[in-house]
Amino acid sequence: MPIVNRISALHDEVTAWRRDIHEYPELQFDVHRTAGIVAEKLKEFGCDEIVTGIGKTGVVGIIKGRNTGSGKVIGLRADMDALPLTEITGVPHASKVPGKMHACGHDGHTAMLLGAAKYLAETRNFDGSVAVIFQPAEEGGGGGREMVNDGMMDRFGIQEVYGMHNAPGLPVGQFALRPGPLMAAADRIEILVEGKGGHAAKPHLAVDTILIASQIIVNAQSIVSRNVDPLQNAVVSICAFNAGFTDNVIPQTARLQGTVRTLTPEMRDFVEARLHAIVEGTAAVFGGTAKLVYHRDYPVTKNHSDNAIFAGDAAAAVVGEDAINRDTVPVMGGEDFSFMLEARPGAFIFIGQGDGPNVHHPAYDFNDEIIPIGMSYWAKLVESRLPA
Ligand code: NI
Repeated sequence: MPIVNRISALHDEVTAWRRDIHEYPELQFDVHRTAGIVAEKLKEFGCDEIVTGIGKTGVVGIIKGRNTGSGKVIGLRADMDALPLTEITGVPHASKVPGKMHACGHDGHTAMLLGAAKYLAETRNFDGSVAVIFQPAEEGGGGGREMVNDGMMDRFGIQEVYGMHNAPGLPVGQFALRPGPLMAAADRIEILVEGKGGHAAKPHLAVDTILIASQIIVNAQSIVSRNVDPLQNAVVSICAFNAGFTDNVIPQTARLQGTVRTLTPEMRDFVEARLHAIVEGTAAVFGGTAKLVYHRDYPVTKNHSDNAIFAGDAAAAVVGEDAINRDTVPVMGGEDFSFMLEARPGAFIFIGQGDGPNVHHPAYDFNDEIIPIGMSYWAKLVESRLPA
């Protein structure tokens, strides 16, 4: 490549789509406006097939190449949902919906994949078919899982899948990925502690749930520091502690909530088992009881080795080999593209967003400068995986 003229020419148009989506953020599966725009544009571009309502509100568009003799089908995925935050950027295209904003750049991901779809439907310089996948509910709802469970892979004969996410801190014009685990399994935990409520001045007649819950928090921190191999990775974070309501009553119950992040199935099982032992054992020592509810949420986002090479090569064709980190450090954030990677081989890649606020921050805004780079990556990936 690097950036083909036709893609450069689409920059302003795609930026306008991105900003329009940014102004009207939608949460979880409730992405009706955004999905409507996506379906309408795919129709306008002349996609061969457009299916809405996959995984509740997901959209898939099929674009056939000039030839389809190869019989190959690859899937390119973008996410459409926003976050429950109030935007503080002050930009002219800031969110018009109080309490909702595109703070993770999914507006940019959707716009870039739409732009790539427009280019691919115009040029069709490939042999096979492309499925452009627009999913709802990446931020906690498991929209990727819903689309896979809805039979998306078989229905469209998708053989490989690729995903992309912007990365603040990674310079504009750079990409990063790695073979194997790239993002963590993200599990939710809830710990329900039961003691014996009583008068604060007569603690000997009560079983203090606040003390038990506090000891559970401290002991849980021994898992990563004392049980996990120092050369392996895991996170245990307790993020909510709710108990009591006044200054002279020992509460009967306490509730903790948090998250566990791991990079392998073995580590996931191990941390869960240690947590059960600590929660139940600690409560028993103090004469109370506690129950751990462990919700397995998103699995590890694990790139398949060959596909990570194909993705890296496509990115290198756009920005040059020197601008690709093919062995980036995994991150402990979760990503529900993991469900698609469990269903089919593929790879997830980070695209440099440059300096500025991190994702999920109220001052974050997607960097429109990277739109042609992301679109070119998609185009190059298709043209190299499905050579005409
Ligand atoms: Ni995101």
